[in-house]
Amino acid sequence: MTDIDSLNALEADVLAQVAGAADEAALEAVRVAALGKKGSVSEKLKTLGSMSPDDRKTFGPALNALRDRVAAALGERKAALADAALEARLASERLDVSLPVRESGLETGRIHPVSQVMDELTAIFSAMGFSVAEGPDIETDELNFTALNFPVGHPAREMHDTFFLPEKPNGERLLLRTHTSPVQVRTMRSTQPPIRVICPGRTYRFDMDQTHTPMFHQVEGLVIDKEAHLGHLRWVLEEFLKTFFEVPSVELRFRPSFFPFTEPSMEVDVRCRKLPNEVRIGEGDDWLEILGCGMVHPNVLRNCGVDPDVYQGFAWGMGIDRIAMLKYGMPDLRDLFSADARWLSHYGFRPLDFPTLAGGLSS
Ligand code: DAH
Repeated sequence: MTDIDSLNALEADVLAQVAGAADEAALEAVRVAALGKKGSVSEKLKTLGSMSPDDRKTFGPALNALRDRVAAALGERKAALADAALEARLASERLDVSLPVRESGLETGRIHPVSQVMDELTAIFSAMGFSVAEGPDIETDELNFTALNFPVGHPAREMHDTFFLPEKPNGERLLLRTHTSPVQVRTMRSTQPPIRVICPGRTYRFDMDQTHTPMFHQVEGLVIDKEAHLGHLRWVLEEFLKTFFEVPSVELRFRPSFFPFTEPSMEVDVRCRKLPNEVRIGEGDDWLEILGCGMVHPNVLRNCGVDPDVYQGFAWGMGIDRIAMLKYGMPDLRDLFSADARWLSHYGFRPLDFPTLAGGLSS
């Protein structure tokens, strides 16, 4: 039997379930249990057909109204749950755009200052028409010394503190090249003049203190032509040094010196200001020795198959680590090769900032 009290109780029960549904799935279950085909409200509606006309008049509108209220409550609860779900999702997926972005590999990776300086040298000398030549780190005695006019037994050989490899059965002793000058010989033997090359690379000497490491880097320069002379050498070095140190002008001082492979031989000093923690190139009243150079010795030309009566030329050799330390204010040479990631993150260069003359060498 249907009576008003039981309808009220049914409505109160369903509405309580609607209010208590924690999520949309639970609410759907409440809807099916009340308004589905066999739901509690639907079952009540089915009883209308078997009622007396008077009862139907009473209970018909009452039941329809109840069904409508339940349906409305379900709709409202559904909308509220959808809103709450959206709020929760928005809260959980919120992005704080004021946080710093995570560093990519590009930000943390660094180019070593020696590699950077080699790239800078290459950019500068390429613009002057030089190409780059390379040779092996393990050299023959002939290329490292003899062809460069170091006579066998000459004291200049001893000054190089050479690392020798074990002697071969035929008596030959290979060595770790003590300078990049053997690449001059290789180049002259394989290339017809005119020649304009730089030869950057690793070199080795048995020496270790604040300004010496057993492995270090040099760059050699070589120009061979019919009329190449010291005036050209001076211009090339001045242009190079002022571009490299990014200063408007440099002043050079040439002092006589001795190398077996050049005649005359000179050492070059650059005007600078020595401050407690830095050296400023291109100003001041101090002088800093920066490289060795000279006119290629006729014996060397001859040893390389170049006719000294037709061709002449000049060469120079410079320490790359030293000019890197000067330019970038690195006080101890040994730090360059200690593989300390903190040092590299401080002194290193961003990987995709290639040095160019137009875009800037060290920007
Ligand atoms: N090879 C010399 C050294 O290691 C540097 C040098 C001096 C190279 C004069 C040259 C030069 O080409 O002309 O001490």
